Amino acid sequence: MSNGDVSQGRRRFLIGATSVVGGVGVVGAAVPFVQSWNPSAKAKAAGAPVTVNVDKIEPGQQITVNWRGKPVWIVRRTPEMIENVKAMAPRLRDPESKEASQQPEYINGPLRSLKPEFAVLVGICTHLGCVPTYRPEVAPADLGENWLGGFFCPCHGSKFDLAGRVFEGVPAPLNLEVPPYRFDDESTLTVGLDPEAA
Ligand code: FES
Repeated sequence: MSNGDVSQGRRRFLIGATSVVGGVGVVGAAVPFVQSWNPSAKAKAAGAPVTVNVDKIEPGQQITVNWRGKPVWIVRRTPEMIENVKAMAPRLRDPESKEASQQPEYINGPLRSLKPEFAVLVGICTHLGCVPTYRPEVAPADLGENWLGGFFCPCHGSKFDLAGRVFEGVPAPLNLEVPPYRFDDESTLTVGLDPEAA
């Protein structure tokens, strides 16, 4: 290759590099505007963990947090609710949570939770994606005398117990999903991080 070829090639490279830098400059100018516009929504969409003080949840109460654009429920189960969950197995499609896609590997047992008191569930029906309704009461008129508390999907009638386990004979094929989560201390729960994560 002659010197002329080298400088030709270098000139072409420099022109290309200038174009790229110019392009980066335009993008760089746009990013601060987007960030200052709505930083928390942007972080949540990217999957940032969500931390909750569970001391503020009353026994029997459900709260909803937004994680990765999905509703995640945290229910503080009473001792009676916990006993009712344990009695549900004969009426459920997957009482032992054998479908591995629906919970992290550290979630097992009938209660599907790290602590018996707290259920943590993605609030999206596994049939066609509606948001089920929290129905903690026992034997309400519309759900029948065998209802021991759970979640009812108004779209096509799927039912889930207070651990998110799906009933037999309803359209939803799978238990509600349990997201990754951990307890940072007795009263601080973080959705989106596994227990062993730093
Ligand atoms: S979307 Fe819930 S039953 Fe169909």
